[in-house]
Amino acid sequence: MKLMEAIHGRRAVRSYTAEPVAPARLRALIDAAIQAPSAMNRQPWSFCVISDQSLLQRISDASKAHMLDTIIPDTAAGDLSEFRHALGDPGFHIFYHAPALIVISATEEGPWSRIDCALAAENMMLAACDAGLGSCWIGFAQAWLGTPDGKRTLDLPEAHVPIAPIIVGHPEAVPSAVPRNEPDIRWIGEPGTRGTSPS
Ligand SMILES: Cc1cc2nc3c(=O)[nH]c(=O)nc-3n(C[C@H](O)[C@H](O)[C@H](O)COP(=O)(O)O)c2cc1C
Repeated sequence: MKLMEAIHGRRAVRSYTAEPVAPARLRALIDAAIQAPSAMNRQPWSFCVISDQSLLQRISDASKAHMLDTIIPDTAAGDLSEFRHALGDPGFHIFYHAPALIVISATEEGPWSRIDCALAAENMMLAACDAGLGSCWIGFAQAWLGTPDGKRTLDLPEAHVPIAPIIVGHPEAVPSAVPRNEPDIRWIGEPGTRGTSPS
């Protein structure tokens, strides 16, 4: 697959077959993730791979409860309240029963480590697309995974901060593309004029 095909064709996949993903294929996704650039080449990431379905169910339940208890009531969370119904539904599995979850965590605090992890996550999702696998970043899991209970569950050192929980699996269905808004671009100087797009 050409890079631009992956960039334009990758989708957030929310429906998976039960077929496990071989460890070597998951490892290849991590190898792609670590090719991402990082500030001062610090590579401040760690990876936790979970394929135990009962553990994923437990993390899903804990994450939903945590979101409902601590994040959604916070008015600053604003538009997250639209998820209240889904998060209160016992049948809603935040990982969509995907066979594997890879959590990318920042190994240090600092101005750029979270950004570095997000770059690694995008590499991982593009590599999954290239390999014919589906993936989706599950932000619902991030807050609980960062609690002391969550870190214990991932066997993460206290200083690590979960940033990108990425599910991976064989897609049962790939959704159609979600439309993108026109980019807000300001051309400063050549080749366009400020406020306009070049023809
Ligand atoms: C930081 C982040 C958090 C996300 N969290 C969730 C999530 O919790 N659950 C989910 O189903 N999708 C989640 N997504 C996927 C987005 O909804 C999806 O990328 C977006 O709708 C665009 O669709 P596309 O990826 O198919 O282009 C998340 C994506 C990002 C980047």
